[in-house]
Amino acid sequence: MGTVLITGAARGLGLDLTKQYAAKGWKVHACARNPAGMKDIDGDIHHHRLEVTDYDAVKALANKLSGEAIDVLICNAGVSRTAAATLGSLDAAAWRETFEVNALAPLMMAEAFIDHVARSTERKLIAISSRLGSITHCNSGRYAYRASKTALNMEWKGLSVDTASKGLICVVMHPGWVQTDMGGAQATLTIAQSVPAMVKVIDGLKADDNGRFLNYDGSEIPW
Ligand SMILES: NC(=O)c1ccc[n+]([C@@H]2O[C@H](COP(=O)([O-])OP(=O)(O)OC[C@H]3O[C@@H](n4cnc5c(N)ncnc54)[C@H](OP(=O)(O)O)[C@@H]3O)[C@@H](O)[C@H]2O)c1
Repeated sequence: MGTVLITGAARGLGLDLTKQYAAKGWKVHACARNPAGMKDIDGDIHHHRLEVTDYDAVKALANKLSGEAIDVLICNAGVSRTAAATLGSLDAAAWRETFEVNALAPLMMAEAFIDHVARSTERKLIAISSRLGSITHCNSGRYAYRASKTALNMEWKGLSVDTASKGLICVVMHPGWVQTDMGGAQATLTIAQSVPAMVKVIDGLKADDNGRFLNYDGSEIPW
């Protein structure tokens, strides 16, 4: 069985990713700012308190797990701030927070954990991005969120080049529009429709998939 590390694991997509991998019999490093509410999930789950923008804490966790092989690292934690969304009411502080959580923190996670992933069997580095980060699909609004996910996509494309010699498979995924706190009740997909499908896609990733931007169902999304 493999080992997965998931950020933002206490609710939404991250919580269900934790449940899905635990149900498969994987060892799960479930990272959350407040892991207290996660204690009743069955399986080989290791809880870690982690604010992803606390880079000393990210390094400390990487050190704590040094020597361990992590087959799949999933950078899932993310924010969407309405204050930074609309032209005419842009908010610099909300922009900075959005970029820090959605774009900078995943790259810092990747840097800290590259060796853990490289020494594993599956060697998969996954970022939960969004179709809203696709320049091809851009229509309007949600400037900070869209731009932060576009930046994340560029980072993962760069990682796919820089880590190819280590055999890593770096993929960004869109979970669909999903009914979570972020997605809202009007979203078209339930968590049960999105997360198991994403896990199936991640399970099936091969070396040729390095550097791709994939939908939750495995279809390609244009950059
Ligand atoms: N739902 C959708 O329709 C949708 C669509 C496209 C992409 N996504 C992406 O999917 C990912 C998960 O979203 P979701 O729908 O599950 O959203 P959610 O229900 O709002 O959950 C967001 C998660 O991110 C965590 N988080 C936020 N800031 C953090 C920080 N600074 N440090 C550590 N954890 C932090 C939250 O932890 P706390 O509980 O501590 O706040 C929470 O676990 C995000 O990257 C999002 O952009 C979602």
